[in-house]
Amino acid sequence: MTQSRISRLYQHSLEERAQIIAQAGEVPPETLRPWQQNGGLTAEQADHMIENVLGTHALPLGIALNFQVNGRDVLVPMAIEEPSVVAGASFMAKLARAGGGFFASADAPEMIGQIQILDLADAPAARLKIYERREELLAAAAEVDPVLQRLGGGPRDLHVRLLEHPATGPFLVVHLIYDVRDAMGANAINTACERLAPQLEAITGGRAHLRILSNLADRRLARARCTLPVEALAFEGFSGEEVRDGIVAAWAFAAADPYRAATHNKGIMNGVDAVVIATGNDWRAVEAGAHAWAARNGRYTTLSSWGVDAQGNLTGALEMPLAVGTVGGATRAHPAAQAALQLMGVRTAAELAEVIVSVGLAQNLAALRALATEGIQRGHMSLHARQVAIAAGARGEEIDRLAAQLATEGVVRIDRARAILQSWKSSPKE
Ligand code: MEV
Repeated sequence: MTQSRISRLYQHSLEERAQIIAQAGEVPPETLRPWQQNGGLTAEQADHMIENVLGTHALPLGIALNFQVNGRDVLVPMAIEEPSVVAGASFMAKLARAGGGFFASADAPEMIGQIQILDLADAPAARLKIYERREELLAAAAEVDPVLQRLGGGPRDLHVRLLEHPATGPFLVVHLIYDVRDAMGANAINTACERLAPQLEAITGGRAHLRILSNLADRRLARARCTLPVEALAFEGFSGEEVRDGIVAAWAFAAADPYRAATHNKGIMNGVDAVVIATGNDWRAVEAGAHAWAARNGRYTTLSSWGVDAQGNLTGALEMPLAVGTVGGATRAHPAAQAALQLMGVRTAAELAEVIVSVGLAQNLAALRALATEGIQRGHMSLHARQVAIAAGARGEEIDRLAAQLATEGVVRIDRARAILQSWKSSPKE
């Protein structure tokens, strides 16, 4: 069983960290090798993925610790260039453990494909004609992908919407609901939409125009919740109650104001995207779905919610569309994505979504806790100072000591870090 509680991982060398993580995650050390080799994707492999390839573009890959999702410890790989994100998620996951960790669920992997039908003589009647042939259309859609069908996926339902715009007049939009199992599903659903289009033209007498999935994957939601005992929130000069109420007030700001909600949700996506990218999934699709969902009632608002339970504990929840897969596309083709999925021990797309939404909630908590108390810069600078101390050559206890001195001086630079280290070596008592 994976053990995600590991203390002071940052104090170890890169090589040691990989050994510790492989052991804690119960995977062979070779599994993690792609991350130790410039992101694990060769230029030749990249050449098969996109066009006009010159090489690859690497991002830092860190492991978020302490996560417990539905009672299971998970080590979470995060690909992100921004400092403090991995540490923030890890720290909040540690606090959340006191309340049992994260409890998460995910809907069936149902995607929506859209087929737009133009040039209709009688759009309302054409809409009804499609419904009359629903079973026949679903049967035709089922034949498109026999493999998916065998795995238990395939078409689930069909809805027809009548829309209108001055540029086109009335038109129909057929929604094909398609269970894509453990894939993100864009290819499966797009193929099915393209195949159904001629049949829809024949039924309606209209012209099928766009045939494409919707990234507002609102039938494929993932949700996570956590409870933080109020005493676990106290730190330095702040009582647990102050931190708790500060977090709720920060959330209320986002709930009431789209300007703040955009930043609040960006903090959530710091966590979500980092895992989506690490697993080779399409983060633009997830971003598009998240923000469209956040505006679903006509006004952009927060994806998460924070409150207080009857015992005075802080409670948090996050619910959002999460169209991610564990098979197909880069999840299979990218060696580093395979490493990520193996380390997490997720078998299905739903399990992956449950981990991702938990990380999003943890990340949101990290940002709100900092903003509601000491501000975001202090933690950021002290982490940065620690990284600079390590880069300058500090080891063991020197790291925290040097980081503290850099932070106190307010000069967090490698040249200064090296100078301090040097001065300690020449006069050890300093
Ligand atoms: C920075 O990347 C993310 C935050 O701005 C999120 C927030 O304000 O909630 C700190």
